[in-house]
Amino acid sequence: MKVPYLDLKAQYQTISSEINGEVKRVLESGAFILSPELESLETEFASFSGCEHAVGVSSGTSALHLAILAAGIKPGDEVLTVSMTFVATVAAIEYARAIPRFVDINPLYQTIDTEKIGSAITKKTKAIIPVHLHGQSCDMAPLLALAEQHGLTVIEDAAQAHAASYHGKTLGTLGRLGCFSFYPGKNLGAYGEGGMVLCANKEDADQIKLLRNWGSSRRYHHEQRGFNYRLDAIQSAILRVKLRHLEAWTQRRREIASLYTQSLRGVPLTLPSELPNSRHVYHIYAVRVKSREQVAQMLLERGIQSNSHYPIPVHLQEGYRDLGYQTGDFPESEKMANETLSLPIYPEMTNEQVLFVSEQLKEIVSKLS
Ligand SMILES: Cc1ncc(COP(=O)(O)O)c(C=O)c1O
Repeated sequence: MKVPYLDLKAQYQTISSEINGEVKRVLESGAFILSPELESLETEFASFSGCEHAVGVSSGTSALHLAILAAGIKPGDEVLTVSMTFVATVAAIEYARAIPRFVDINPLYQTIDTEKIGSAITKKTKAIIPVHLHGQSCDMAPLLALAEQHGLTVIEDAAQAHAASYHGKTLGTLGRLGCFSFYPGKNLGAYGEGGMVLCANKEDADQIKLLRNWGSSRRYHHEQRGFNYRLDAIQSAILRVKLRHLEAWTQRRREIASLYTQSLRGVPLTLPSELPNSRHVYHIYAVRVKSREQVAQMLLERGIQSNSHYPIPVHLQEGYRDLGYQTGDFPESEKMANETLSLPIYPEMTNEQVLFVSEQLKEIVSKLS
């Protein structure tokens, strides 16, 4: 049996007639940029999330960049986030010429350790970007309380966490701004690039709308310096179709995760822990194993693709050496980077495939221990 890490073709097959019809409709409309299609997606995504304002942009990275700018973060301001994230979180802070400062992760939930935030706050700290890694909520109550106490803006990186929640509230609506990616492999993925910002207030939404379109609300008049960060009509139409399936896909991801958890219980590896009172949407189902590279190679030899999110934390990436960090600075993030192994997960995966992966992993781990 072959098990790919992800199978986007399998998903397309289940929705191809809906998608093809919608793409054809957009092609025939001749409206491709900042179209009514985008406005409809924004309205539907906002309502799905229980938020008033949603602004479509060209990627999760541009969502973060514009959210940081709209929040009034200035060059030289410090922004707290984790090093155990996709590099885009940190890149977006630097695009705004702000300074990323890292906080280590909680080893159990693998998201920002709220007990370590306080000591990272300086006079220059202006914002916190909690990353809902793998589709699991950060522990938002203590984080929001600290932010309030220190006057910091909270911008959620919910790029991996569509339809996830914390105490019943959809992620991306707990802070002032919430950023999503529609990269194809995401739980809600475009057939190209895309992103979205959820905004708690209209002023931020208006500012992001201006900035995504060259700082212009009237053609060839530029009230501000902006960007070409627009989300196109074809992607918007595709995302509208997929949004209607997101809840069912999310439930299937959660089913697959619980099947993995049941069938891997007792195996000497660490399974993911769910934060209480939150809904993990399992963008990634990751276990922790010693000799990760060897286990991944042995899985591959048995026809199973796996992955690692992420093998190197940002503070140890070669391109970020000038931030001045070294090994040992964020020990929990570094430990996770060495041990984390992402197993195949996508809604179209069959139970037989999940059980096959579990059996093979079980055998490999017992052979190695
Ligand atoms: C946590 C996180 N933040 C930001 C991004 C950036 O999103 P994009 O690739 O759409 O720019 C991603 C995904 O790629 C991500 O996983």
